[in-house]
Amino acid sequence: MKNFTYSIPTIVHFGQGQIEKLGGEIAARAHKVLMVYGGGSIRRNGVYDAAAAQLKARGIAWAELPGVEPNPRIATAREGIRLCREQELDGVLALGGGSVIDCAKCIAAGALYDGDPWDFSAKKAVPERALPLFTVLTMAATGSEMDCISVMSNPETNEKESFSSPCCYPAVSILDPVYTYSLPASQTAAGVADIMSHTFENYFSPVETACLADSLAEAILRSCIHYGPLAIQTPDSYEARANLMWNSSWAINGFLAMGKPVGWSVHRMEHELSAFYDVTHGVGLAILTPNWMRYVLSEKTERRFARYGAEVWGLDRSLPARELAEAAIQKTREFFTSLGLPATLSEVGIGPEYFPEMARKARTANFDHTFVPLGTEDIVNIYQMSL
Ligand code: NZQ
Ligand code: ZN
Repeated sequence: MKNFTYSIPTIVHFGQGQIEKLGGEIAARAHKVLMVYGGGSIRRNGVYDAAAAQLKARGIAWAELPGVEPNPRIATAREGIRLCREQELDGVLALGGGSVIDCAKCIAAGALYDGDPWDFSAKKAVPERALPLFTVLTMAATGSEMDCISVMSNPETNEKESFSSPCCYPAVSILDPVYTYSLPASQTAAGVADIMSHTFENYFSPVETACLADSLAEAILRSCIHYGPLAIQTPDSYEARANLMWNSSWAINGFLAMGKPVGWSVHRMEHELSAFYDVTHGVGLAILTPNWMRYVLSEKTERRFARYGAEVWGLDRSLPARELAEAAIQKTREFFTSLGLPATLSEVGIGPEYFPEMARKARTANFDHTFVPLGTEDIVNIYQMSL
């Protein structure tokens, strides 16, 4: 195990009805907030009304920024920053999924930054200060509700880049599983694939001695495999929605990475798919992940995949390691397909035209330290396998 510092400052209120704590939490930290949301799902599922009632009850004024896109755009964050400055807002309230929360993080940091917010994604600046951020989560997927990462897109340049800073942790997140009942099956499935991918990115690491993190990763994966299909069959299953929601937060809140290097290689590859083709993040991950697994499977890595097969899929541990590993990878693909997720890039309209450019952009120095180091040619090969 490697050295680490563990700190997650976000206060989480988890469970049905916890929105009643929202007004008090905001009132303790802000007077007038920017309410940020997406294309209207919160108007239909009651989240908007519940949050507005909380603000009114505490006398908290607000301005609104609707229309945050899935794969949120930097231009939208710029508009939010403008509103914060113009109306002297002192907090940001995000109502939605990862896209809304990521955009809200960019606004919260950008409002106190003397420059263009794309500087954060372009790695020209690291946010040092941010307005307090409050979130009401409506989708179990990204874990943005309990991490300090924001992923923003710039469609003009086909770029999708993340930034992170401790000042971007939400101060308070409300996680009510009931708010995810209205998610369509396709988004529920994409969310499950995303949660599992976050877990894989941490689990498949060159350091294999972080036992607590590894066992928790296996538990999260088993829970996704159990509850993902249930949430799709029975969208109002509280048990399924609650378990997926808590899995989402823990897959990426940093705990699974404690004591080991993690490279996020499949995420880097997927972000290029979203940057060039605006595909749903979880869909891109579901397509790439089993192919990445196949590509990096070798004599050196088969033991890890065999452990994954035995612990997560309950496969027969007396099988030879390679056989067990291959069966586990096959199970992963079949599981994503059973959720209704596409298995190939062609199904989502992606051809090979930009593979070399995407691979070049995806590959960062991090790829030297991933579970299996990958060069740009390897990345092109994985894209190619996914066609
Ligand atoms: O726009 P609205 O109307 O809200 O509809 C959304 C959107 O169309 C809808 N939705 C969300 N909750 C709903 C709902 N529809 C009905 N009922 C509900 N309860 O679902 C659609 C997708 O929402 P979005 O927020 O885009 O999904 P997700 O949470 O998967 O976020 C994806 C974004 O997060 C980034 C991704 O790259 C992508 O840009 N990520 C952020 C990370 C982070 N901050 O740590 C890490 C991730 O790996 C990821 O990269
Ligand atoms: Zn992700």
